[in-house]
Amino acid sequence: MTAPRSTPESTPQILPLELDGVCFDAGGNRLIKDISLRFEPGLRTVVIGPNGAGKSLFLRLCHGLLRPTQGSVRWQLGSSAARHQAMVFQRPVMLRRSVTANIDYALKLRKVPRRDRADIIDRVLQQTGLRRHADQPARVLSIGEQQKLALARAWALQPQVLFLDEPTASLDPAATHGVEEIIQAIHDAGTRIIMTTHDLGQARRLADEVIFINRGRILERAPAERFFEAQENDLARAFVRGELLWWHKGKDNRKQIPKPKEDI
Ligand SMILES: Nc1ncnc2c1ncn2[C@@H]1O[C@H](COP(=O)(O)OP(=O)(O)OP(=O)(O)O)[C@@H](O)[C@H]1O
Ligand SMILES: [Mg+2]
Repeated sequence: MTAPRSTPESTPQILPLELDGVCFDAGGNRLIKDISLRFEPGLRTVVIGPNGAGKSLFLRLCHGLLRPTQGSVRWQLGSSAARHQAMVFQRPVMLRRSVTANIDYALKLRKVPRRDRADIIDRVLQQTGLRRHADQPARVLSIGEQQKLALARAWALQPQVLFLDEPTASLDPAATHGVEEIIQAIHDAGTRIIMTTHDLGQARRLADEVIFINRGRILERAPAERFFEAQENDLARAFVRGELLWWHKGKDNRKQIPKPKEDI
């Protein structure tokens, strides 16, 4: 079965998204520093970088949950862009209602007519493998199932762009695989994916292009194949090798860390 296109042909495109000189300050610190870039339709972008680099802030600024302190975030379609995008968080919030009612509520908020909702819900439950949980309270689902429900809820909105912030952060390998398959299916149905992950394996599996952020700055943006073959930026290279901390301190102090005993 081929999934229906996320975006009906007649709907105007909200992409490209353009960030121009975007800065974000909080608590007296500049947390996002002068980001300018453009997202065209089509690809899957994976944003990587160390903890605290600004990945989540970056996604929130793109999605419009935060306003930049300086600079601008502009969608081609301007103010009506909000209804054609969705975001899934690391720990999705579920309403105290059934799985079906959680999706129904999201559709209602987007003013999808009641007569259309049942079909959409049935389709996304099928596509995410959640049909047998349809009538269960969402909050009794396992973390992995809840994450799938969050994806189903987002997919039901047929977004042109889907932002995902660490969608598999607390999942085991099997659940991670299931979520990655759903992300791939959402993309195949026509949705632009922009996501963060701390899992480099996942970045290799899902990314068409990689953005590396460190301390609020984008230091590298490259097609995934080229990025994983050879990072141009020194910090990106250190990060991919798992050495960023050592590099960061300005000296190679790895020798000070005792080696694990080989007989353990
Ligand atoms: N509202 C805020 N006020 C002050 N500091 C903030 C605020 N929000 C985020 N920060 C700080 O901004 C920095 C970037 O945060 P962000 O959550 O974007 O990092 P991240 O790259 O997503 O990290 P992680 O990999 O841990 O999720 C962090 O140092 C964080 O403490
Ligand atoms: Mg984060």
